[in-house]
Amino acid sequence: MDFMHLLCIFFISVLSCSYLIRGQQPYIRKATTACGSADKSNSALGYTCNGVTPRCQAYLTFRSQPPFTSVSSISSLLAADPSELSQLNSVPEDATFETNKVVLVPVNCSCSGKYYQVNASYVVQKDETFFIIANNTFQGLSTCQALQAQNNNLTTKKLYAGTRLIIPLRCACPTKNQTNDGVDYLLSYLVTWGQYVALIGDIFGADTGRTLDANGLSEDDTVIYPFTTLLVPLEKPPSSSQILPIPSPPPPPPSSPVSSSHTKSKTWIYVVAGVLGSLGLLSVIGVVVFCFFFRKTKSGSKKDIDPVFTSESFEALEKSTEKKFEQEFDFLESVSISAQSLKIYTFKELEFATEGFDLSSLIKGSVYRGRINGDLAAIKEINGDVTKEINILNKINHFNIIRLSGVGFNDGTWYLVYEFAVNGPLCDWIYNNNTSQKFLTWTQRIQIAFDVATGLNYLHRYASPPYVHKDIKSSNILLDTNLRAKIANLSLARSADEDGEHFVLTRHIVGTQGYMAPEYLENGMISPKLDVYSFGVLLMEMLTGKEVSSLYEANSDLSNALRPTLQEENEKANLSSFMDPALEGNYPTDHAIFVIRLIDNCIKKDPSVRPEMDVIVQNLSRTINSSLSWEHTGNFE
Ligand SMILES: *[C@@H]1O[C@H](CO)[C@@H](O)[C@H](O)[C@H]1NC(C)=O
Ligand SMILES: *[C@@H]1O[C@H](CO)[C@@H](O)[C@H](O)[C@H]1NC(C)=O
Ligand SMILES: *[C@@H]1O[C@H](CO)[C@@H](O)[C@H](O)[C@H]1NC(C)=O
Ligand SMILES: *[C@@H]1O[C@H](CO)[C@@H](O)[C@H](O)[C@H]1NC(C)=O
Ligand SMILES: *[C@@H]1O[C@H](CO)[C@@H](O)[C@H](O)[C@H]1NC(C)=O
Repeated sequence: MDFMHLLCIFFISVLSCSYLIRGQQPYIRKATTACGSADKSNSALGYTCNGVTPRCQAYLTFRSQPPFTSVSSISSLLAADPSELSQLNSVPEDATFETNKVVLVPVNCSCSGKYYQVNASYVVQKDETFFIIANNTFQGLSTCQALQAQNNNLTTKKLYAGTRLIIPLRCACPTKNQTNDGVDYLLSYLVTWGQYVALIGDIFGADTGRTLDANGLSEDDTVIYPFTTLLVPLEKPPSSSQILPIPSPPPPPPSSPVSSSHTKSKTWIYVVAGVLGSLGLLSVIGVVVFCFFFRKTKSGSKKDIDPVFTSESFEALEKSTEKKFEQEFDFLESVSISAQSLKIYTFKELEFATEGFDLSSLIKGSVYRGRINGDLAAIKEINGDVTKEINILNKINHFNIIRLSGVGFNDGTWYLVYEFAVNGPLCDWIYNNNTSQKFLTWTQRIQIAFDVATGLNYLHRYASPPYVHKDIKSSNILLDTNLRAKIANLSLARSADEDGEHFVLTRHIVGTQGYMAPEYLENGMISPKLDVYSFGVLLMEMLTGKEVSSLYEANSDLSNALRPTLQEENEKANLSSFMDPALEGNYPTDHAIFVIRLIDNCIKKDPSVRPEMDVIVQNLSRTINSSLSWEHTGNFE
């Protein structure tokens, strides 16, 4: 394996290869600290003018910091109207805010060329750099890249005290999709330590899904960083009652049975701090891991203690959970027995493995390639409740399911360390675009299908309790050196019959468009047949070399795409127009038709007539055997 090849390696799950979900404005991620580069994929220069109107009322947040603590000083810093600002915050116009108080700032946002912005004017102080002005003075409401771009008429690179700069503040106006959704305003919220998307959405009563979407994030990819802006979509202007003194820890959810939390709360999936509050054995691992790091970090007094642990939110959290830690410390032993294969990594180890989470180690999204004791590993950054995935993967040991080898926790972010699948996600291999050099033969495709079916069959039948994966798609299937498949991303998985029922109903519909079974979309019904449906769609993609979205473009009902090939007359001619042209006819016709029949059964509307996974495994096992002998006796029939 040459080096370039290694570079191209992709792992995982978090990034779907489907282009069905598109964010309104890309989230800036870590670009705020990379002053030299203006990565086009994020919004470092500002939010694009993609809204319905070129100007609109928008809102910013700002934390009062000396010398900007009064209505007038904050208004003049941020180009706001002092009387509007005082009204919005329900304070008199001559008021002074206590330090660190979140202040709502109404602004007139408008397009200046490509980007939305509010022009503030600022005089450089001694020793200030573009970064310090953007990050410290303006707290992340602007970026050094945008400052440089905006003030490129400066004759020198160095900033001198007294120079007047234009500071483009990050704001945005709602897009057509958002307006259709009832969103009238966007608030540029300044993220601080320990916050996550669902929490911020909750502060302003904004739906988490919409908030993720507004920032080009997804349920699989919710990591956000302090001192960046997160757009919060609002139906009404924000009000001062929403920003009661924060940061404060979210209230621990009431102790409810684990099963009901799935349907009740939309936010559980993202909650980090909630992990600490929620009860149930699942959380215990989280608590213990957290506890472990917490103590470790506190005692390691060398250098700066991580800011997250000094921030008020965590201090409060510490108090509220200290009792619980004590009670649950006793669990440590029992958990470490059940989690004995799971290594707990310190942040330092993970930093070392990924060369400080360097861009060159980034695989995609929030997944990094790391080297731990000489072995490659995939390290996924998650801002959310990971205890479920940890709990499931820790109990599962199967060749066709990606192995979780360890976990870490730092700054409100979890790190899951997985076995590394060298050949990356299946989606990089099966879509027939000319740029990709990657090609799978017929037999390799059937082998992969068999592997996925075997992994799913294990989850459905032999895992205890049985699980439904719920998000089978080409980007969640990873290939190892030998192009054998491993199922990844069990973050949406749930137990099929944890209520002792054959199936369960949910109102919380999550998954990937195109792969989701009709009964789930319509009624939220969860059963193993959900995975059978997605598997059928996946198999169809593998045979045709087309993405699910383009399959749907051609046929609103996928079964129709199969019809012509299943008609007796002229079977072969129709088959060749169905199959991936890259295969150039190199497949055994009758097996191909057999597999197409299987797909047809998998994507039946009525879940009860779809085959069980074990039947599929048997069928595919026969197909592999005969495909192998077909391959050995010559490719051409
Ligand atoms: C708006 O929604 C349509 C369909 O729902 C989608 O195709 C389009 O990409 C969306 N636009 C943006 C900017 O998200
Ligand atoms: C924003 O626009 C409104 C209406 O155009 C105007 O009355 C107000 O003074 C503007 N605010 C600022 C701070 O320029
Ligand atoms: C903000 O400043 C830029 C650059 O100086 C200018 O092009 C733009 O028109 C200004 N926008 C407003 C609303 O004043
Ligand atoms: C960015 O600014 C914040 C205060 O807004 C400060 O706490 C943080 O340390 C700054 N980041 C860097 C890298 O200096
Ligand atoms: C750069 O341009 C802005 C307006 O676009 C102006 O206010 C500023 O004085 C200019 N700076 C220099 C050094 O010319």
